Amino acid sequence: MLSTNEQQEILRRRTFAIISHPDAGKTTLTEKLLLYGGAIHVAGAVKSNKIRKTATSDWMEIEKQRGISVATSVMGFDYKPANQTINGSLTDINGEQQGETVYHINILDTPGHQDFAEDTFRTLTAVDSVIIVIDAAKGVETQTRRLMQVCRMRKTPVMVFINKMDREGKDPFDLLDEVEQELGIHVRPLSWPINSGPRFKGVYNIFQSTLDLYQPDKTHVTESLRFDDVNDPQIAELVGEQDAAKLQEDLEMIEGVYNPFSHADYLAGELAPVFFGSALNTFGVKELLECFVRIAPSPLPVDAVERKVEPMEDKFTGFCFKIHANMDPNHRSCIAFFKICSGKFERNTYYKHVRKGQQMRFSSPTCFMAQRKETVDEAFAGDIIGLPDTGNFKIGDTLTAGEDLHFKGLPSFSPEMFKYIENADPMKQKQLDKGVSQLMDEGVAQLFVSQMNGRKIIGTVGQLQFEVIQYRLEHEYNAKCRWEPLQMYKACWIESDDAAELEMFKKRKAQYMAFDKDGRDVFMADSAYVLQMAQNDYKHIKFHFTSEF
Ligand code: G4P
Repeated sequence: MLSTNEQQEILRRRTFAIISHPDAGKTTLTEKLLLYGGAIHVAGAVKSNKIRKTATSDWMEIEKQRGISVATSVMGFDYKPANQTINGSLTDINGEQQGETVYHINILDTPGHQDFAEDTFRTLTAVDSVIIVIDAAKGVETQTRRLMQVCRMRKTPVMVFINKMDREGKDPFDLLDEVEQELGIHVRPLSWPINSGPRFKGVYNIFQSTLDLYQPDKTHVTESLRFDDVNDPQIAELVGEQDAAKLQEDLEMIEGVYNPFSHADYLAGELAPVFFGSALNTFGVKELLECFVRIAPSPLPVDAVERKVEPMEDKFTGFCFKIHANMDPNHRSCIAFFKICSGKFERNTYYKHVRKGQQMRFSSPTCFMAQRKETVDEAFAGDIIGLPDTGNFKIGDTLTAGEDLHFKGLPSFSPEMFKYIENADPMKQKQLDKGVSQLMDEGVAQLFVSQMNGRKIIGTVGQLQFEVIQYRLEHEYNAKCRWEPLQMYKACWIESDDAAELEMFKKRKAQYMAFDKDGRDVFMADSAYVLQMAQNDYKHIKFHFTSEF
């Protein structure tokens, strides 16, 4: 049994990711959350980890990005919420007394650039909830839509932050409709803006029945004015009769149109509370954070093939969701990022590497606090730890106190771009094979081998990944590769209960068949038409667009 203190450690953890379409303000919001947490004192300390659009083929930028995203890929800090009443009560939604709990927040950083979307998708398997940032002027964008699909699949609780209210944006009611329709989730505003752009005056906090007036400040946390009643005549004096009346009208409309906030629906991933603000001006961020720590889930159970694993179990379990190879090329160092699913992890204790059936112990596990990495003696369910690795781990690997468990749900997405990879230096075939194999284990891209001629095909979600692979093969493995174009539409993992039909299909489509890295059959359709025909002709064959089914 975990001790009461250890259970408290787990309960106070909030592990989440901030996701957005590039440029919506994810980096800015992350930084402001750290600012409120006291983890940093002046904004500007966290570097943007995105690759500028103008520099997509500039490797220096990619290198920089890798370095920075490693340093900041997990940011932990403690946060004690203000001892404020919420709708008249001192107890928060989880039934905990406010002012007592110091929450431990783990923010997982996700690369914004779409060519690294796979990395982001995998990171989403390690979080218990998500904050989506949306640009008020642009509304829901492509990348947000794709990321939300993953959240919906996993029923991840989602909060929405509508950012950049200091700029002229869309109407807030229209934005709510857009979020609801485009992201397929019910919404409930918990704060409400008074105008936007140059006329932006503040945010009424529906969750706490208070009003914060806008005082732009880009670097420090500002105190804002508070009112406990939206009908307070002083509000009209401050924002003007017209805006005060509009606010009252909007709030009435919200109460009429939207159901009251349901914590259960939020936890079930069916309802997203929505906040408005401006991350750059540190406005509306505190409301978001205060509400977040109160309603966001503590570590959730995780499904393994064998059974459901509860965070409060006394035995340690965890899975690897990310590997960073060759962080320092001189030392060939690798870090495997593990999400702890249950119990307590301890330094220098033997754990079972389930895939290898080996006992392993770790003398220098690291955890990540705001901007530094430090060795830890223990870590709890909900935490992310980094384990120095010399090639023992692959994404999806499990560590346990002895049980054979295999965690589910690490998605492998259907690549969208394909190229043949050829050896450009015949003397370095071995190096090339090793490099390709390691980079694929790291999850940089997916490898397919044609069943007809044995040629290797690399599938990615974006052009940038090919550049990254080529560069890393050269600099980390001393191997040279060449890309050859390949006309390809989709890779589909196929299965069927009808063995005869499956055999027939594989024979007929021999020129389209490949193996994935685990030796499974993949149908490589070169056009939408070919895929459509195959689906029509072979009714008993299931075509999966991810390797996870
Ligand atoms: P990302 O991580 O989601 O890609 O976005 P990031 O935070 O880097 O923000 C993208 C741009 O939007 C940045 O400007 C940032 O300053 C700006 N921004 C973020 N929040 C707000 C806001 O509330 N209001 C306004 N008006 N702008 C906001 P940039 O010019 O691309 O970068 P920088 O030179 O300012 O760093």
